[in-house]
Amino acid sequence: MANRGGFTNKLGFILAAAGSAVGLGNIWKFPYEVGSGGGAAFVIMYLFFCFILCFPVMVTEIAIGRKTQKNPVGAFKALGFKNWAFLGILGIFCGVLILSFYNVIAGWAFGYFFEMLSANFIDNGKEFGEYTSDIVKVGGYSIVFMLATAFVVVRGVSGGIEKLARILMPTLVIMILGLMAYAFTLDNAMEGVKYYLIPNIDNINANSIGGALRQAFFSLSLGMGALITYGSYVGRKDNIVSSAVYITLTDVGIAFIAGLMIFPLVAFNTGGNMTDEVLSSINGPSLIFITLPGVFENIGDLGVLVGSVFFLLLSFAALTSTVSLLEVPVAYVVDEFGVRRKKAVVIVASIIFLLGLPCLFSGGYSAFFTNFFTIPFGSDTPASSDFLSLAASIADTLLLLGGTLIVIFAGYVWKKHNLNSEISSGYEGYDKSIAKILINVGVTIVCPILLFVLFVVVVMNNFFGIDLINLLFR
Ligand code: TRP
Repeated sequence: MANRGGFTNKLGFILAAAGSAVGLGNIWKFPYEVGSGGGAAFVIMYLFFCFILCFPVMVTEIAIGRKTQKNPVGAFKALGFKNWAFLGILGIFCGVLILSFYNVIAGWAFGYFFEMLSANFIDNGKEFGEYTSDIVKVGGYSIVFMLATAFVVVRGVSGGIEKLARILMPTLVIMILGLMAYAFTLDNAMEGVKYYLIPNIDNINANSIGGALRQAFFSLSLGMGALITYGSYVGRKDNIVSSAVYITLTDVGIAFIAGLMIFPLVAFNTGGNMTDEVLSSINGPSLIFITLPGVFENIGDLGVLVGSVFFLLLSFAALTSTVSLLEVPVAYVVDEFGVRRKKAVVIVASIIFLLGLPCLFSGGYSAFFTNFFTIPFGSDTPASSDFLSLAASIADTLLLLGGTLIVIFAGYVWKKHNLNSEISSGYEGYDKSIAKILINVGVTIVCPILLFVLFVVVVMNNFFGIDLINLLFR
Protein backbone atom coordinates (compact mmCIF):
# COMPACT_ATOMS: atom_id res chain seq x y z
CA MET A 1 0.00 0.00 0.00
CA ALA A 2 1.20 3.50 -0.76
CA ASN A 3 2.24 5.60 2.19
CA ARG A 4 -0.75 7.74 3.10
CA GLY A 5 1.19 10.02 5.43
CA GLY A 6 0.10 10.93 8.94
CA PHE A 7 0.26 13.50 11.71
CA THR A 8 3.67 13.93 13.29
CA ASN A 9 2.34 13.53 16.82
CA LYS A 10 -0.68 13.81 19.07
CA LEU A 11 -0.49 17.59 19.32
CA GLY A 12 -0.44 17.86 15.54
CA PHE A 13 -3.58 15.77 15.33
CA ILE A 14 -5.34 17.73 18.06
CA LEU A 15 -4.52 21.03 16.40
CA ALA A 16 -5.67 19.83 12.99
CA ALA A 17 -8.90 18.36 14.36
CA ALA A 18 -9.55 21.44 16.46
CA GLY A 19 -8.83 23.47 13.35
CA SER A 20 -11.46 21.49 11.53
CA ALA A 21 -13.90 22.02 14.36
CA VAL A 22 -13.28 25.72 14.91
CA GLY A 23 -14.69 27.62 11.98
CA LEU A 24 -17.53 29.76 10.77
CA GLY A 25 -19.72 27.59 12.97
CA ASN A 26 -18.11 28.93 16.12
CA ILE A 27 -17.61 32.54 15.28
CA TRP A 28 -20.47 33.27 12.95
CA LYS A 29 -23.18 30.80 13.91
CA PHE A 30 -22.79 30.03 17.59
CA PRO A 31 -23.22 33.58 18.91
CA TYR A 32 -26.44 34.28 17.08
CA GLU A 33 -27.83 30.84 17.81
CA VAL A 34 -27.25 31.59 21.48
CA GLY A 35 -28.82 34.99 21.12
CA SER A 36 -31.95 33.68 19.47
CA GLY A 37 -32.12 30.32 21.21
CA GLY A 38 -32.50 31.41 24.83
CA GLY A 39 -29.12 32.72 25.93
CA ALA A 40 -27.60 30.66 28.71
CA ALA A 41 -30.32 28.03 28.38
CA PHE A 42 -29.02 27.35 24.90
CA VAL A 43 -25.43 27.27 26.11
CA ILE A 44 -26.28 24.67 28.74
CA MET A 45 -28.04 22.41 26.26
CA TYR A 46 -25.18 22.86 23.86
CA LEU A 47 -22.62 21.83 26.47
CA PHE A 48 -24.68 18.79 27.42
CA PHE A 49 -24.90 17.74 23.78
CA CYS A 50 -21.19 18.26 23.18
CA PHE A 51 -19.96 16.35 26.18
CA ILE A 52 -22.60 13.64 26.55
CA LEU A 53 -24.03 12.95 23.11
CA CYS A 54 -21.24 14.02 20.80
CA PHE A 55 -18.30 12.73 22.77
CA PRO A 56 -18.98 9.02 22.10
CA VAL A 57 -19.53 9.83 18.43
CA MET A 58 -16.23 11.65 18.22
CA VAL A 59 -14.27 8.89 19.92
CA THR A 60 -15.94 6.28 17.71
CA GLU A 61 -15.10 8.14 14.52
CA ILE A 62 -11.45 8.56 15.47
CA ALA A 63 -11.21 4.91 16.58
CA ILE A 64 -12.69 3.59 13.33
CA GLY A 65 -10.31 5.77 11.36
CA ARG A 66 -7.24 4.74 13.28
CA LYS A 67 -8.15 1.06 13.27
CA THR A 68 -8.63 0.90 9.51
CA GLN A 69 -6.28 3.67 8.31
CA LYS A 70 -8.85 4.42 5.65
CA ASN A 71 -11.26 7.03 4.35
CA PRO A 72 -14.89 6.68 5.56
CA VAL A 73 -15.99 4.35 2.74
CA GLY A 74 -12.88 2.19 2.85
CA ALA A 75 -13.10 2.06 6.65
CA PHE A 76 -16.42 0.23 6.80
CA LYS A 77 -15.23 -2.19 4.14
CA ALA A 78 -11.96 -2.79 5.93
CA LEU A 79 -13.82 -3.68 9.10
CA GLY A 80 -15.62 -6.31 7.07
CA PHE A 81 -19.00 -4.61 6.74
CA LYS A 82 -19.46 -3.86 3.07
CA ASN A 83 -23.14 -3.17 3.63
CA TRP A 84 -22.23 -0.23 5.81
CA ALA A 85 -20.10 1.44 3.19
CA PHE A 86 -23.23 3.43 2.29
CA LEU A 87 -22.65 5.33 5.52
CA GLY A 88 -19.24 6.35 4.25
CA ILE A 89 -20.79 7.40 0.94
CA LEU A 90 -23.33 9.49 2.83
CA GLY A 91 -20.43 11.10 4.68
CA ILE A 92 -18.54 11.91 1.48
CA PHE A 93 -21.71 13.35 -0.02
CA CYS A 94 -22.24 15.43 3.09
CA GLY A 95 -18.68 16.74 3.02
CA VAL A 96 -19.05 17.75 -0.62
CA LEU A 97 -22.36 19.44 0.14
CA ILE A 98 -21.00 21.32 3.16
CA LEU A 99 -17.88 22.51 1.40
CA SER A 100 -19.93 23.70 -1.57
CA PHE A 101 -21.77 26.28 0.53
CA TYR A 102 -19.17 26.78 3.24
CA ASN A 103 -16.66 27.94 0.70
CA VAL A 104 -19.07 30.63 -0.48
CA ILE A 105 -19.49 32.07 3.03
CA ALA A 106 -15.76 31.77 3.64
CA GLY A 107 -15.26 33.74 0.43
CA TRP A 108 -17.57 36.47 1.69
CA ALA A 109 -15.64 36.65 4.95
CA PHE A 110 -12.32 36.78 3.15
CA GLY A 111 -13.60 39.54 0.90
CA TYR A 112 -14.73 41.51 3.94
CA PHE A 113 -11.15 41.59 5.10
CA PHE A 114 -10.35 43.77 2.10
CA GLU A 115 -13.51 45.80 2.44
CA MET A 116 -12.64 46.63 6.05
CA LEU A 117 -9.06 47.45 5.11
CA SER A 118 -10.35 50.00 2.65
CA ALA A 119 -12.77 51.31 5.31
CA ASN A 120 -15.79 50.19 3.37
CA PHE A 121 -18.05 49.22 6.26
CA ILE A 122 -21.02 47.39 4.86
CA ASP A 123 -23.56 48.23 7.51
CA ASN A 124 -27.01 47.65 6.11
CA GLY A 125 -28.95 44.94 4.36
CA LYS A 126 -28.94 46.77 1.07
CA GLU A 127 -25.17 47.07 0.87
CA PHE A 128 -24.74 43.49 1.98
CA GLY A 129 -27.19 42.38 -0.71
CA GLU A 130 -25.23 44.34 -3.28
CA TYR A 131 -22.03 42.72 -2.07
CA THR A 132 -23.30 39.13 -2.21
CA SER A 133 -24.92 39.64 -5.59
CA ASP A 134 -21.78 41.12 -7.12
CA ILE A 135 -20.96 37.84 -8.73
CA VAL A 136 -17.57 38.80 -10.10
CA LYS A 137 -16.38 39.93 -6.70
CA VAL A 138 -17.75 37.18 -4.48
CA GLY A 139 -17.14 34.58 -7.18
CA GLY A 140 -13.53 35.69 -7.29
CA TYR A 141 -13.13 35.49 -3.53
CA SER A 142 -14.62 32.04 -3.39
CA ILE A 143 -12.32 30.83 -6.16
CA VAL A 144 -9.36 32.20 -4.22
CA PHE A 145 -10.56 30.48 -1.07
CA MET A 146 -10.99 27.15 -2.83
CA LEU A 147 -7.53 27.49 -4.35
CA ALA A 148 -6.01 28.17 -0.93
CA THR A 149 -7.79 25.13 0.46
CA ALA A 150 -6.62 22.97 -2.41
CA PHE A 151 -3.07 24.27 -2.07
CA VAL A 152 -2.92 23.10 1.54
CA VAL A 153 -4.52 19.71 0.90
CA VAL A 154 -2.17 18.97 -2.01
CA ARG A 155 0.74 19.26 0.39
CA GLY A 156 -0.58 16.35 2.39
CA VAL A 157 -1.32 15.64 5.99
CA SER A 158 1.77 16.63 7.93
CA GLY A 159 3.23 19.10 5.42
CA GLY A 160 -0.07 20.82 4.62
CA ILE A 161 -2.98 20.32 6.96
CA GLU A 162 -1.01 19.96 10.18
CA LYS A 163 1.43 22.71 9.37
CA LEU A 164 -1.38 25.13 8.62
CA ALA A 165 -3.11 24.31 11.90
CA ARG A 166 0.12 24.71 13.86
CA ILE A 167 0.44 28.25 12.57
CA LEU A 168 -3.16 29.37 12.38
CA MET A 169 -4.66 27.95 15.57
CA PRO A 170 -2.43 29.85 18.01
CA THR A 171 -2.74 32.99 15.87
CA LEU A 172 -6.47 32.68 15.97
CA VAL A 173 -6.59 32.32 19.73
CA ILE A 174 -4.43 35.41 20.20
CA MET A 175 -6.55 37.45 17.81
CA ILE A 176 -9.83 36.44 19.38
CA LEU A 177 -8.64 37.12 22.93
CA GLY A 178 -7.32 40.50 21.84
CA LEU A 179 -10.62 41.44 20.25
CA MET A 180 -12.55 40.22 23.26
CA ALA A 181 -10.41 42.31 25.62
CA TYR A 182 -11.00 45.30 23.41
CA ALA A 183 -14.77 44.68 23.26
CA PHE A 184 -14.91 44.66 27.05
CA THR A 185 -13.56 48.20 27.20
CA LEU A 186 -16.51 49.57 25.23
CA ASP A 187 -19.55 51.24 26.79
CA ASN A 188 -22.38 48.90 27.73
CA ALA A 189 -20.24 45.81 27.27
CA MET A 190 -21.82 44.20 30.31
CA GLU A 191 -25.33 44.54 28.88
CA GLY A 192 -24.16 42.40 26.00
CA VAL A 193 -22.63 39.81 28.29
CA LYS A 194 -25.82 39.64 30.33
CA TYR A 195 -27.93 39.09 27.29
CA TYR A 196 -25.54 36.41 26.13
CA LEU A 197 -25.46 34.54 29.40
CA ILE A 198 -28.68 34.98 31.33
CA PRO A 199 -31.11 32.19 30.48
CA ASN A 200 -34.49 32.87 29.02
CA ILE A 201 -36.45 29.65 29.43
CA ASP A 202 -39.32 30.88 27.26
CA ASN A 203 -37.12 30.66 24.23
CA ILE A 204 -36.66 26.92 24.54
CA ASN A 205 -38.54 25.05 21.82
CA ALA A 206 -37.89 22.54 19.06
CA ASN A 207 -36.02 25.21 17.23
CA SER A 208 -33.59 25.91 20.02
CA ILE A 209 -33.12 22.31 21.18
CA GLY A 210 -32.66 21.08 17.65
CA GLY A 211 -30.52 24.13 17.00
CA ALA A 212 -28.23 23.35 19.91
CA LEU A 213 -27.76 19.77 18.77
CA ARG A 214 -27.22 20.63 15.12
CA GLN A 215 -24.79 23.28 16.22
CA ALA A 216 -22.90 20.77 18.37
CA PHE A 217 -22.56 18.33 15.49
CA PHE A 218 -21.63 20.88 12.90
CA SER A 219 -19.22 22.68 15.13
CA LEU A 220 -17.42 19.52 16.22
CA SER A 221 -17.23 18.35 12.58
CA LEU A 222 -19.07 15.14 13.44
CA GLY A 223 -21.36 12.82 11.57
CA MET A 224 -19.73 12.63 8.15
CA GLY A 225 -16.48 10.86 8.78
CA ALA A 226 -14.21 13.90 8.85
CA LEU A 227 -12.78 12.46 12.03
CA ILE A 228 -12.66 8.95 10.58
CA THR A 229 -10.41 10.47 7.95
CA TYR A 230 -8.28 12.47 10.38
CA GLY A 231 -8.27 9.48 12.73
CA SER A 232 -6.76 7.39 9.97
CA TYR A 233 -3.63 9.52 10.24
CA VAL A 234 -3.27 9.08 14.01
CA GLY A 235 -0.60 6.91 15.60
CA ARG A 236 -1.35 3.81 17.67
CA LYS A 237 0.37 5.23 20.72
CA ASP A 238 -1.83 8.29 20.89
CA ASN A 239 -4.63 8.51 23.39
CA ILE A 240 -7.88 8.95 21.49
CA VAL A 241 -9.99 9.80 24.51
CA SER A 242 -7.84 12.64 25.79
CA SER A 243 -7.42 13.94 22.23
CA ALA A 244 -11.20 14.05 21.90
CA VAL A 245 -11.48 15.93 25.18
CA TYR A 246 -8.98 18.56 24.03
CA ILE A 247 -10.65 18.93 20.65
CA THR A 248 -14.06 19.40 22.26
CA LEU A 249 -12.78 21.84 24.86
CA THR A 250 -11.01 23.93 22.25
CA ASP A 251 -14.07 24.04 20.05
CA VAL A 252 -16.49 24.87 22.84
CA GLY A 253 -14.06 27.34 24.39
CA ILE A 254 -13.54 29.30 21.19
CA ALA A 255 -17.26 29.39 20.44
CA PHE A 256 -17.88 30.69 23.94
CA ILE A 257 -15.21 33.36 23.68
CA ALA A 258 -16.55 34.39 20.28
CA GLY A 259 -19.84 35.19 21.99
CA LEU A 260 -18.03 37.14 24.70
CA MET A 261 -16.37 39.13 21.99
CA ILE A 262 -19.42 39.76 19.83
CA PHE A 263 -22.20 40.62 22.26
CA PRO A 264 -20.37 43.52 23.94
CA LEU A 265 -19.81 44.92 20.45
CA VAL A 266 -23.51 44.60 19.68
CA ALA A 267 -24.47 46.19 23.02
CA PHE A 268 -22.12 49.05 22.37
CA ASN A 269 -23.93 49.75 19.16
CA THR A 270 -27.44 49.51 20.59
CA GLY A 271 -26.52 51.67 23.57
CA GLY A 272 -27.11 48.75 25.91
CA ASN A 273 -30.62 48.21 24.62
CA MET A 274 -30.82 44.46 24.16
CA THR A 275 -34.53 43.82 23.68
CA ASP A 276 -35.66 41.01 21.45
CA GLU A 277 -36.84 43.50 18.86
CA VAL A 278 -33.44 45.07 18.54
CA LEU A 279 -31.88 41.66 18.42
CA SER A 280 -34.19 40.06 15.92
CA SER A 281 -32.32 42.07 13.34
CA ILE A 282 -29.05 40.33 14.09
CA ASN A 283 -30.33 36.88 13.35
CA GLY A 284 -28.42 34.88 10.81
CA PRO A 285 -25.67 36.08 8.52
CA SER A 286 -26.53 39.70 9.23
CA LEU A 287 -24.90 39.53 12.66
CA ILE A 288 -21.45 39.09 11.22
CA PHE A 289 -21.86 40.69 7.84
CA ILE A 290 -23.99 43.73 8.69
CA THR A 291 -24.20 44.41 12.41
CA LEU A 292 -20.53 43.98 13.25
CA PRO A 293 -19.22 46.07 10.34
CA GLY A 294 -21.61 48.78 11.55
CA VAL A 295 -20.00 48.53 14.98
CA PHE A 296 -16.52 48.72 13.49
CA GLU A 297 -17.56 51.85 11.68
CA ASN A 298 -18.84 53.39 14.90
CA ILE A 299 -15.83 52.73 17.06
CA GLY A 300 -13.84 55.39 15.30
CA ASP A 301 -10.18 55.32 14.40
CA LEU A 302 -9.60 51.76 15.51
CA GLY A 303 -12.46 50.51 13.34
CA VAL A 304 -10.36 49.66 10.32
CA LEU A 305 -7.89 47.71 12.42
CA VAL A 306 -10.45 45.86 14.54
CA GLY A 307 -12.62 45.11 11.52
CA SER A 308 -9.77 43.78 9.41
CA VAL A 309 -8.40 41.66 12.23
CA PHE A 310 -11.84 40.22 12.82
CA PHE A 311 -12.36 39.15 9.23
CA LEU A 312 -8.85 37.84 8.87
CA LEU A 313 -9.48 35.75 11.97
CA LEU A 314 -12.71 34.48 10.52
CA SER A 315 -10.98 33.56 7.26
CA PHE A 316 -8.24 31.69 9.12
CA ALA A 317 -10.80 29.76 11.14
CA ALA A 318 -12.68 28.92 7.96
CA LEU A 319 -9.56 27.76 6.14
CA THR A 320 -8.61 25.07 8.65
CA SER A 321 -12.21 23.85 8.30
CA THR A 322 -12.45 23.89 4.50
CA VAL A 323 -9.20 21.97 4.44
CA SER A 324 -10.74 19.19 6.54
CA LEU A 325 -13.84 19.15 4.39
CA LEU A 326 -11.80 18.76 1.21
CA GLU A 327 -9.54 16.11 2.73
CA VAL A 328 -12.43 13.67 3.20
CA PRO A 329 -13.45 13.21 -0.45
CA VAL A 330 -9.81 13.51 -1.49
CA ALA A 331 -8.77 10.68 0.82
CA TYR A 332 -11.64 8.65 -0.61
CA VAL A 333 -10.53 9.18 -4.20
CA VAL A 334 -6.88 8.53 -3.35
CA ASP A 335 -7.53 5.36 -1.32
CA GLU A 336 -10.29 3.79 -3.35
CA PHE A 337 -9.34 4.72 -6.90
CA GLY A 338 -5.58 4.91 -6.53
CA VAL A 339 -5.48 8.43 -7.95
CA ARG A 340 -2.49 10.59 -7.04
CA ARG A 341 -3.20 13.14 -4.31
CA LYS A 342 -2.52 16.14 -6.49
CA LYS A 343 -4.80 14.98 -9.26
CA ALA A 344 -7.48 14.00 -6.76
CA VAL A 345 -7.39 17.47 -5.21
CA VAL A 346 -7.73 19.21 -8.55
CA ILE A 347 -10.66 17.04 -9.62
CA VAL A 348 -12.53 17.10 -6.32
CA ALA A 349 -12.03 20.80 -5.62
CA SER A 350 -13.22 21.72 -9.12
CA ILE A 351 -16.33 19.58 -8.84
CA ILE A 352 -17.18 21.04 -5.44
CA PHE A 353 -16.68 24.56 -6.67
CA LEU A 354 -19.06 23.93 -9.58
CA LEU A 355 -21.63 22.33 -7.30
CA GLY A 356 -21.39 25.41 -5.12
CA LEU A 357 -22.41 27.78 -7.91
CA PRO A 358 -26.12 27.72 -7.01
CA CYS A 359 -25.12 28.78 -3.48
CA LEU A 360 -22.99 31.54 -4.90
CA PHE A 361 -25.92 32.66 -7.06
CA SER A 362 -28.36 32.53 -4.16
CA GLY A 363 -26.97 35.71 -2.60
CA GLY A 364 -29.13 37.86 -4.84
CA TYR A 365 -27.55 37.29 -8.24
CA SER A 366 -30.22 34.83 -9.34
CA ALA A 367 -33.79 35.34 -8.14
CA PHE A 368 -34.53 31.67 -8.69
CA PHE A 369 -31.86 30.45 -6.27
CA THR A 370 -32.35 33.36 -3.89
CA ASN A 371 -35.99 32.48 -3.13
CA PHE A 372 -35.64 28.79 -3.59
CA PHE A 373 -37.60 27.00 -0.94
CA THR A 374 -40.61 27.57 1.28
CA ILE A 375 -41.54 25.40 4.26
CA PRO A 376 -44.70 23.75 2.92
CA PHE A 377 -46.91 23.99 5.99
CA GLY A 378 -46.83 24.81 9.67
CA SER A 379 -48.46 27.48 11.75
CA ASP A 380 -45.86 30.21 11.63
CA THR A 381 -45.47 32.46 8.67
CA PRO A 382 -43.88 30.28 6.04
CA ALA A 383 -40.21 31.11 5.82
CA SER A 384 -38.76 31.23 2.38
CA SER A 385 -35.20 30.26 2.06
CA ASP A 386 -32.36 30.73 -0.37
CA PHE A 387 -30.53 27.80 -1.87
CA LEU A 388 -27.52 28.21 0.40
CA SER A 389 -29.56 28.12 3.59
CA LEU A 390 -31.46 25.12 2.34
CA ALA A 391 -28.23 23.29 1.53
CA ALA A 392 -26.98 24.17 5.01
CA SER A 393 -30.01 22.83 6.78
CA ILE A 394 -30.05 19.62 4.72
CA ALA A 395 -26.39 19.12 5.59
CA ASP A 396 -27.00 19.74 9.29
CA THR A 397 -29.75 17.18 9.31
CA LEU A 398 -27.68 14.59 7.47
CA LEU A 399 -24.90 15.01 10.02
CA LEU A 400 -27.33 14.03 12.76
CA LEU A 401 -28.44 11.02 10.78
CA GLY A 402 -24.83 10.06 10.08
CA GLY A 403 -23.90 10.39 13.75
CA THR A 404 -26.84 8.28 14.84
CA LEU A 405 -25.92 5.53 12.38
CA ILE A 406 -22.25 5.61 13.32
CA VAL A 407 -22.96 4.94 16.99
CA ILE A 408 -25.47 2.23 16.11
CA PHE A 409 -22.83 0.68 13.91
CA ALA A 410 -20.23 0.82 16.67
CA GLY A 411 -22.53 -0.46 19.40
CA TYR A 412 -24.38 -3.20 17.57
CA VAL A 413 -22.55 -4.16 14.39
CA TRP A 414 -18.85 -3.69 14.96
CA LYS A 415 -19.57 -4.31 18.69
CA LYS A 416 -18.28 -2.41 21.63
CA HIS A 417 -15.47 -4.79 22.60
CA ASN A 418 -13.80 -4.02 19.27
CA LEU A 419 -14.31 -0.33 19.82
CA ASN A 420 -12.90 -0.62 23.33
CA SER A 421 -9.87 -2.55 22.23
CA GLU A 422 -9.02 0.13 19.64
CA ILE A 423 -9.48 2.92 22.17
CA SER A 424 -7.34 1.21 24.79
CA SER A 425 -4.35 1.33 22.46
CA GLY A 426 -2.59 4.45 23.72
CA TYR A 427 -4.70 4.66 26.87
CA GLU A 428 -3.53 2.28 29.58
CA GLY A 429 -6.10 2.80 32.28
CA TYR A 430 -9.01 2.81 29.85
CA ASP A 431 -10.60 -0.38 31.14
CA LYS A 432 -11.18 1.11 34.53
CA SER A 433 -12.03 4.62 33.44
CA ILE A 434 -15.23 6.63 33.56
CA ALA A 435 -14.64 7.42 29.90
CA LYS A 436 -15.21 3.76 29.11
CA ILE A 437 -18.60 3.75 30.81
CA LEU A 438 -19.59 6.99 29.13
CA ILE A 439 -18.56 5.70 25.73
CA ASN A 440 -20.08 2.24 26.11
CA VAL A 441 -23.40 3.37 27.50
CA GLY A 442 -23.25 6.14 24.93
CA VAL A 443 -22.89 4.02 21.83
CA THR A 444 -25.32 1.33 22.93
CA ILE A 445 -28.12 3.25 24.62
CA VAL A 446 -27.96 6.98 25.18
CA CYS A 447 -26.78 8.20 21.77
CA PRO A 448 -28.82 5.90 19.52
CA ILE A 449 -32.04 6.75 21.36
CA LEU A 450 -31.58 10.45 22.02
CA LEU A 451 -29.98 11.19 18.68
CA PHE A 452 -32.73 9.42 16.82
CA VAL A 453 -35.49 11.21 18.72
CA LEU A 454 -33.82 14.56 18.22
CA PHE A 455 -33.26 13.79 14.56
CA VAL A 456 -37.01 13.38 14.15
CA VAL A 457 -37.63 16.62 16.06
CA VAL A 458 -35.21 18.47 13.80
CA VAL A 459 -36.64 17.09 10.56
CA MET A 460 -40.20 17.93 11.57
CA ASN A 461 -39.18 21.41 12.60
CA ASN A 462 -36.90 22.28 9.69
CA PHE A 463 -38.76 20.86 6.78
CA PHE A 464 -42.38 20.74 7.93
CA GLY A 465 -42.57 23.60 10.39
CA ILE A 466 -43.91 21.36 13.18
CA ASP A 467 -42.61 21.99 16.70
CA LEU A 468 -42.82 18.58 18.41
CA ILE A 469 -41.43 19.86 21.70
CA ASN A 470 -44.16 22.47 22.00
CA LEU A 471 -46.80 20.03 20.83
CA LEU A 472 -45.87 17.37 23.37
CA PHE A 473 -44.74 19.31 26.42
CA ARG A 474 -46.66 22.57 26.60
N1 TRP B 1 -16.81 22.54 12.19
C1 TRP B 1 -16.64 23.55 11.19
C2 TRP B 1 -17.24 24.84 11.70
O1 TRP B 1 -17.68 24.91 12.79
C3 TRP B 1 -17.22 23.13 9.88
C4 TRP B 1 -16.76 21.80 9.45
C5 TRP B 1 -15.53 21.45 9.04
C6 TRP B 1 -17.50 20.60 9.44
N2 TRP B 1 -15.47 20.11 8.77
C7 TRP B 1 -16.66 19.58 9.01
C8 TRP B 1 -18.79 20.33 9.80
C9 TRP B 1 -17.12 18.29 8.92
C10 TRP B 1 -19.24 19.05 9.69
C11 TRP B 1 -18.43 18.03 9.29
O2 TRP B 1 -17.26 25.83 11.01
